[in-house]
Amino acid sequence: MSFIELAKNRYSVRKFSNRPIEKEKLDTILAVGNLAPTAKNMQPQRIYVLQSDGAMAELDSLTPCRYGANTVLLFTYNVDEEWQNPFENNIRSGVQDVSIVATHIMLAAKEQGLDTCWCDYFPNSKLEDAFYLPKNEKAVLLMPIGYADASAKPSQFHNSKKDIDQIVKYL
Ligand SMILES: Cc1cc2nc3c(=O)[nH]c(=O)nc-3n(C[C@H](O)[C@H](O)[C@H](O)COP(=O)(O)O)c2cc1C
Repeated sequence: MSFIELAKNRYSVRKFSNRPIEKEKLDTILAVGNLAPTAKNMQPQRIYVLQSDGAMAELDSLTPCRYGANTVLLFTYNVDEEWQNPFENNIRSGVQDVSIVATHIMLAAKEQGLDTCWCDYFPNSKLEDAFYLPKNEKAVLLMPIGYADASAKPSQFHNSKKDIDQIVKYL
């Protein structure tokens, strides 16, 4: 599959089967995440692989967005390791660094025949407490990952894109 086909075929899966992910596939996907660029190569990202029954129960108490997956990746970053823009006091790279790592993982998963859903719909502070994250780590997103249920299908949003002229401006 070409990269363009892969990007077209990916959609947010919101119903996963209970088929477990093969460890080798997960390792391959996580290794692709480690290839992603980060600001000044500071790599502030951390990834928690949530798979235990206790972790699943904790997630389900905080968000409806597990969608039946038995593996969920929690992406965080360490605020002491993110790059600080020297021109602007409040511009730091942590969320961008995590986002590019998570995007590499989302697309690598698709290449391995797995699906994902990027989820921000959770109470960040409560989740950070629930998983005993270090005080200098911020949660950014959850990503259920696995084999899509046979009945999974794209939402109405998947093919509803703004016209590219509204998005791209040549100056
Ligand atoms: C930053 C971000 C946050 C998102 N948060 C959620 C979420 O909390 N729950 C959810 O079901 N989908 C979430 N999504 C998925 C989007 O709704 C989805 O990508 C969009 O509607 C386009 O659909 P598609 O991914 O199927 O192409 C999120 C996506 C992004 C990029």
